[in-house]
Amino acid sequence: MAIITRAIREQFNPAKPSECVGQIELITTDETKAVVVAAHASFENWKNTSPVARGEILRVTADLLEQNIDIVAETASREMGKTKNEMIGEVKRGASILRYFAQEGMRATGEVLPSASETKILYSMRVPLGVVAAITPWNFPVAIPLWKIAPALVYGNTVVWKPSIEAALTGKLIGELFEQAGMPKNVLNIVQGRGSSVGQVLLEAPEVKAITFTGSNGVGQNILNTAGHTNKKIQLELGGKNAAIILADADLNIAAKLTIEGAMKQTGQRCTATSRVYVEEAVYEKVLEQLIVEAQKIEVGVTMGPVSSKGQYDNILAAIEKAKTDGAQLVFGGGPTEGQSEGYFIDPTIFTNVTHDMAIAHEEVFGPVLAVIKVKDYEEALQLSNDSQFGLSASIYTSNIQKAFDFINRSEVGLVQVNDETGGAEPQAPFGGVKNSSTGAREQGQAAKEFFTTMKTVTINTK
Ligand code: UN1
Repeated sequence: MAIITRAIREQFNPAKPSECVGQIELITTDETKAVVVAAHASFENWKNTSPVARGEILRVTADLLEQNIDIVAETASREMGKTKNEMIGEVKRGASILRYFAQEGMRATGEVLPSASETKILYSMRVPLGVVAAITPWNFPVAIPLWKIAPALVYGNTVVWKPSIEAALTGKLIGELFEQAGMPKNVLNIVQGRGSSVGQVLLEAPEVKAITFTGSNGVGQNILNTAGHTNKKIQLELGGKNAAIILADADLNIAAKLTIEGAMKQTGQRCTATSRVYVEEAVYEKVLEQLIVEAQKIEVGVTMGPVSSKGQYDNILAAIEKAKTDGAQLVFGGGPTEGQSEGYFIDPTIFTNVTHDMAIAHEEVFGPVLAVIKVKDYEEALQLSNDSQFGLSASIYTSNIQKAFDFINRSEVGLVQVNDETGGAEPQAPFGGVKNSSTGAREQGQAAKEFFTTMKTVTINTK
């Protein structure tokens, strides 16, 4: 018998890094290869299971997730730092994602088409791909995995899921809930380990037919370099530098409140976070004042959690320092939170005097940092907001319906909001961006089918 020595990872609480919140055994690369083979072997059976029955397992998992909301929220909060309240919201979102895709097991999978020949019956049907690899980030440790896993499974694929190592304990819990709900063996497989070893196996394995990934642009590029030339399907959800525009005719109090929410919710660690706001000069001073009023309401350590890790902490503080040396003016926050010596807490941070060439105006920070930029008018705001390598999400705050529609038409993003913050996603709506923010088909909603299935066209000659 071969003796396998697995590495152990200890998970520490980012709010109190001396506190170990649990351990996780890391899988070896050889074991990962074996898991992929097992997922491949179980595909035929799962594919032939009724989609209604597949959906039913998702529905039961949703119920179990809600019954276990406290432990899941608490575990995630302690291992990656999001506040317990934010996590409770996310777990509820996870349950509704599962319920939405559970119902997909009962919906049409193709269409009957007229044929040019009187003797032929012609129809199309959606069929699963095989083994899907889902590689997910720490920032939404429940919702993002579920919005990949649930459609993958209900459409008949088997899944190898690699949760972020920083959210490994939450991943393990979710896996256990699927198992309790009756998921057959080897249909949903979890591999806990580092991207550089375990993730790499998934990119290279010939049995893996599709890779769905949410995370950094660097890793996204590696996925394209490794698997882009194969015939694996690839879906990447990457960074954002999401802009909000506040026009003089907007409800300024609401605009400021939602802009700060958009920037600081989840400590700014969302790819949809608002990270730059363009304000018409006529209302600039008033809006800035109100943004600061809203930022002051945030209680770090209570309503806003720490950032997720030492690495995140160092990167965000470095981006803040760079903005200062580049000449941006710090008007709020700007560093570690006082009185929170232990824990990766950073104050909500606001910069003004930001010019378009500064890093803080165009690079993703993934932290609680907002750049406020004065513009002459709507047209200038639109030009600057579109001049970005990213194109995930954008907001406009205005009461002018023409400008709102103009923005809907001309903003170069996948998600556009009018009088609402840049973040958020409902399970029934497609999610994704353009430019360097996304590659491949949209996630969620009916769009999810595009990625997780392929089509078979059937012709039956009846004579
Ligand atoms: C949201 O804004 O609620 O990683 C969802 C992210 C995105 C999901 C954002 N893929 O932040």
